[in-house]
Amino acid sequence: MAYETILYEVESQVATLTINRPKALNALSPQVLDEVSRAIDEAAADKSVRVMILTGAGKAFVAGADIAVMSTMSPLEARRFARKGQEVLFMLERLEKPVIAAVNGFALGGGCEISMACDFIWASEKAKFGQPEVNLGVMPGFGGTQRLSRLVGKNWAKELCLTGGMISADQAKEIGLVNRVFPADEFMSEVNKMAQEMAGKGRVALRGIKNMVDEGYDLPLERALSMEAEAFATCFASNDQKEGMSAFLEKRKPKFRTN
Ligand code: HXC
Repeated sequence: MAYETILYEVESQVATLTINRPKALNALSPQVLDEVSRAIDEAAADKSVRVMILTGAGKAFVAGADIAVMSTMSPLEARRFARKGQEVLFMLERLEKPVIAAVNGFALGGGCEISMACDFIWASEKAKFGQPEVNLGVMPGFGGTQRLSRLVGKNWAKELCLTGGMISADQAKEIGLVNRVFPADEFMSEVNKMAQEMAGKGRVALRGIKNMVDEGYDLPLERALSMEAEAFATCFASNDQKEGMSAFLEKRKPKFRTN
């Protein structure tokens, strides 16, 4: 499929979606959102894709929604734009394959928001995070007030959104927004290595884990545990369970099906 504002490539079961408007620091325009949603559909339909990486070209991950585009929006258009972005971020969250946010640089506003819709965030030491919308006289609209507080607590979410300040990758790790920080020159090769390793696991288990953590999070524990037992049982109808357990007992590495 042809894309103009993103790059999408698949190698060894890992799809890499790179937002590619480096001159505008990869700002999210309606076209970018549209192409990201098409690429997510492409990854969902492609059985050879096990894991997805989301990253940005050049010095930024994503410096936010496109301010030039937003500057002339009416309230109605702004609501539509917010809903469109939220929908695309939901697609990342609901994709039945792990999505790693590989944050190489600025992740501001909509950039921070799209990283939080991924399953976890790995960052280069050069990354910077923030919700600077307040500096533009507006507020977050792609989930910043919601996912951020769920990830790091209400107090940090409020500080970041109310001050509009930026934090470093290390600070983002300290507050629990980022899982790991890597040296800049090894960043993408490390992310790729770990993504490939994850892609070698069984598909049924990867899907079950992602779905259960997300679906169970907002439910009462008892209900969520009962859903977990169902999902666990589903694994036992798969070849992956047979292969994984036989391989352990036979003291060899499992070879999960790749299709
Ligand atoms: C459009 C952007 C942009 C953005 C940067 N650019 N961020 N264009 N939308 N969000 C453009 C600049 O205008 C400039 O274009 C080029 O990218 C390089 O940016 P510079 O500012 O020259 O780079 P630098 O001095 O390194 O500063 C980097 C920066 C700064 C600190 C990241 O660009 C910045 O503050 N950007 C805005 C960040 C922000 O406010 N994000 C939140 C947006 S609101 P030219 O043509 O001059 O070279 C949002 C809402 C989401 O995300 C929810 C919507 C519903």
